[in-house]
Amino acid sequence: MFSSHDGNTQFFIESRFLQHSKHSQPKNDATEVLTSDIYDRNSVIGLFDRMSRSYERMNIILSFGFSTLWRRQAAQMLHSNKTAPDVLDAMSGMGETWAEIYRRFPKAKVSSLDFSPAMVAHSKTRNEKRFASQVTVHCDDMLESRLPDASFDALLSAYGLKTFNEEQSAVLATEVARLLRPGASFAFIEVTEPPNPVLRALYLFYLRTVVPAVGLLCITDPTEYRMLHRYLHNYGDGSYSVAAFEANPLLETHSKSHFFGCARSVYGTRVTAE
Ligand SMILES: C[S@@+](CC[C@H](N)C(=O)[O-])C[C@H]1O[C@@H](n2cnc3c(N)ncnc32)[C@H](O)[C@@H]1O
Repeated sequence: MFSSHDGNTQFFIESRFLQHSKHSQPKNDATEVLTSDIYDRNSVIGLFDRMSRSYERMNIILSFGFSTLWRRQAAQMLHSNKTAPDVLDAMSGMGETWAEIYRRFPKAKVSSLDFSPAMVAHSKTRNEKRFASQVTVHCDDMLESRLPDASFDALLSAYGLKTFNEEQSAVLATEVARLLRPGASFAFIEVTEPPNPVLRALYLFYLRTVVPAVGLLCITDPTEYRMLHRYLHNYGDGSYSVAAFEANPLLETHSKSHFFGCARSVYGTRVTAE
């Protein structure tokens, strides 16, 4: 494993990333991504590497401006009786969720994990500029990370569920159970398709028409918007994530719909007895 250490920030580029770059490059051609398995890890890494240029604006647009509120609501679902809990921000992107973690646990020891090198590079800058390099940043795959067992008291993740299919969601739940200490809490939040037919029609119109149009004004390549629409459409109401977490016997799982079904949180506790 290649690793470089920069202040408090650890930036791991695992050997498998180097192997991938040798033998199967993350796809940079957006058109090729549209025709490939959209859940393939290299497709997802390539998508977010490209999207890192426009991600912040995009995220606000895709969540109808609710992204910050929903992150905050998810952070409020976490609990810990420690004053300085170890908290993991999973699928951390550029570190958009860190402010909410510190709002919830001001003395938290925060780590973040994301597998897109470009998103991680942005998060390193944010860490240095806004968080005094307090956050330990990992570039790794959440489905097979090298983080040790039982290393966190809480895990938060915003908008990272939609790019996992059903099978990957089951692996994700297993990893969450592995990484959390007994009694630790977790909370995920993701944008979903609302069940009400009128809202749903408006939502689809918004995603198919308004978002790409706004996107064209912000960035040049609308392919990424089409990709996100595909993920969100496949993700539906998020019930397969809920089912994957509920099926894991080490996790006590709950789920909640937000703003008439426009987002869903999956949250709960790592059980204490196995
Ligand atoms: C939509 S962004 C969310 C970023 C941030 N959490 C936020 O609140 O805006 C999803 C992130 O999940 C990351 N991601 C997706 N699958 C992953 C995996 N298997 N391992 C690590 N990161 C992953 C992507 O690279 C991307 O940065």
